Order: sequence, then structure tokens, then C-alpha cells
Amino acid sequence: MALSTSQIFVIGGTGAQGLPVIKALVADEKYSVRFLSRDPDSQRAKSLQALGNVTSLKGTFADEAVLREGFRGCDGAFVNIDGFNTGEKTEMYWAIRCYEIALEEGVRFFVYGNLDYAIKKGGYDSKFRVGHYDGKGRIGEWILFQNQANGGRMGAALFTSGPYMEMAISARTPMSPTVEDGVVTWRVPLGSGAVPHVALDDCGFYVRWLFDNADSANGMNLEVAIEHVDYQNLAAAFEKVTGHPARYIDTDISSYWNGPLKVAAGLSAGYNADIADKSTMSFRDNFTGFWNVWKHGVVQRDYELLDRIHPQRVRSVEDWLKREDQRGRELGKGGLWERIQPENITPILKLSEDRGRGIL
Ligand SMILES: NC(=O)c1ccc[n+]([C@@H]2O[C@H](COP(=O)([O-])OP(=O)(O)OC[C@H]3O[C@@H](n4cnc5c(N)ncnc54)[C@H](OP(=O)(O)O)[C@@H]3O)[C@@H](O)[C@H]2O)c1
Repeated sequence: MALSTSQIFVIGGTGAQGLPVIKALVADEKYSVRFLSRDPDSQRAKSLQALGNVTSLKGTFADEAVLREGFRGCDGAFVNIDGFNTGEKTEMYWAIRCYEIALEEGVRFFVYGNLDYAIKKGGYDSKFRVGHYDGKGRIGEWILFQNQANGGRMGAALFTSGPYMEMAISARTPMSPTVEDGVVTWRVPLGSGAVPHVALDDCGFYVRWLFDNADSANGMNLEVAIEHVDYQNLAAAFEKVTGHPARYIDTDISSYWNGPLKVAAGLSAGYNADIADKSTMSFRDNFTGFWNVWKHGVVQRDYELLDRIHPQRVRSVEDWLKREDQRGRELGKGGLWERIQPENITPILKLSEDRGRGIL
């Protein structure tokens, strides 16, 4: 009971991850949420406010006064700092300040939206350096270390996710499909590796579980995934679910960077990070490390633990595709085959949506 919470401040609430997290938190009367957004009038922000028990705070996480106002009066926090805005270096600074200000303002339980500390898990080999992973993973370890030293003033847990499964059927992602001569095709540099893809809906369940079980979850690093998705299996499952042909083509890294992502390769991996700053990774370097991590099996998951925590979790890519196909039909978007066509495919990330509208 000591770490039980009722009012949760959420950073990243309008994002792909934040939407299901907030939905799960306010699905009943147990929690209310205040979320931060630079634009509380956006369609995503409005859809959250319409859930009830949800209010917004306008502003940026890169501002101490805003953070203080956000955490004040809240006893819980879910913080997913957008590293694709800040870049790795600045993300680490603001994540640390979030933790410190939350503690100072009286938050009792802090859940950090984390990613694997890839370079460390890869044996400190720069081949596995992924700025948007390491920037979170380092701070995740730092946060759990503070748990031991803050005299019980604030508990914390890590929610370590991974590439959303939705990214493999969405526009403008590192694993967007193309339709080539009627065949759905994933051209990625994965070799015979596998990606521990995450179902966004399950993110909502897991984060809610951390808050519901804060006393026992205190200090925990909950690392989640559906399964390690081998892309031959992704293609086979897609064919099975939709009845349409699909394939995976293992692609060497230089062909990959000469494909649809060529235009982004030399840009900064964080749109507010200066590419002239020697600490800033380019998209090419960042996502080359990213694919190396999956290709070489650097990241593991404890699926038995996840089965115990979430017995109804999505356990295979085929199950996920079936559910998504069904869901799309119910929402009037059509089946997966229709949704994946070049004229229909849409982004899942708010960042890509905003870019498409010329906002960022
Ligand atoms: N893509 C993946 O597969 C994946 C998987 C796991 C983790 N992640 C990590 O999740 C983070 C991005 O979240 P997402 O995946 O939900 O992306 P997203 O859909 O693009 O959402 C970005 C979120 O960050 C918020 N945001 C950005 N800059 C902000 C600022 N200065 N102040 C306040 N809020 C700001 C946006 O809010 P407003 O626009 O409303 O202000 C929005 O809620 C990244 O760090 C990424 O590494 C991504």
C-alpha cells in the first residue's frame, strides 16, 4: 500500500505508446491522468481528454517549470521522453531531471518508459550502439540505483519495451513493408535474427500492472515483447492470415540505406539534435546499430514471466496479425492486405503523422 497512487502524470501520452497506456490507466475509476503535450488541441490529445478522468498540461518536457507543474499534485508518473526529438545526449539530461523533480514534488511511484541498454548488452561493442536505446537504457539503470539511495521517498520501475509490432505494417518506419508485384515485402538487414516486437495494447496492460502492483514492482525492470519475430515467420503468418503473398528479403546494410530511408540516412536521429555536434548519431549509424542488435540476438526476454503477469498477452506474430486484421475491419479500415497498400498505409508514430502534416 505504501506506493499506491491515484493521480498519474504522463509524459509522451499522445504518442503511439502513451495512448494505450493512458487508456489502460483510466479504464476504470482507479487512476486519473494528467498528460503533457505541446499541443493539447491535437486530435490525439482530444481523444485522450474524451476518455474522462484525463486532463492535459500544455508545454514541453524540456522546461523545468513545466515539469514541476506537471508532477506537482501527482503521486504517480509515467515518463517516456521522446529521444527522436532530443537525440541521445539531451534525452538523458531531461530524463534525469524528470526523476529528480518528480521525487522533489512528492511523486511516490515513477515508471520509466525504457529501452534495452544495447551497447552494454552487446558486450560494450560499438557495433551495437543505438542512441535511442542506450540513452534510455543507461538512465534506466541509474533510476533503479537511486531507488536504493532515496530513503524510500519514491519507488520506481522500468517498463522496457521494444519495436512496436505495428511498425511492421505502418508507413515511414525502419521496417515498413512495400508491395512489389503484388507481394508484400519486408527488405531489412536482419539476417536470420529476430526482433522482439511489442504489441501496443499489451503496453497498456503492463504499465497498469506496474501501478497496480507498485509495492512488489518497485525496483523491477519489466522487459516485454510478444515473441522474437523472425521475418520469415512474419511473412508466413501474413500469408496465412490474409491469404495474400508475402516475403522477407534479407538485405545488406548498404542496399538498405539506398532504399526508402536514403533521404533520412545522414540526418540527425533526433530532430532537435545538432548533426554538427560530435555526440549526435545520424539515422544511418543509429539504425545500423539497431539492426545489428536484432541480427545478432543481443536482447533476451523472459516469456514465462510475461505469461504469468499477463496470461492473455499476445504470444505470437500470427495471433497479433489476426487480431489486427479483425480490428481494422471492425474500425472500417479494411483488412491488413488493404491497409498495407501504398495508397492506404498510414504511420503509427505521432512524429511521422506530424511530419506528414508539415508540423515538424
Ligand atoms: N517506435 C518504437 O517502436 C518504439 C518502441 C519503444 C519505445 N520507443 C521510444 O518511445 C519514444 C517516442 O514515443 P512514441 O513511440 O510514443 O512516439 P510518437 O508516437 O512519435 O510520440 C511522441 C510523443 O512524445 C511527445 N513529445 C515529443 N516531444 C515532446 C516535448 N518536447 N515535450 C513534451 N512531449 C513531447 C509527443 O507529444 P506532443 O506531440 O503531444 O507534444 C508524443 O506524445 C522514443 O524515445 C522512442 O525511442 C519507440
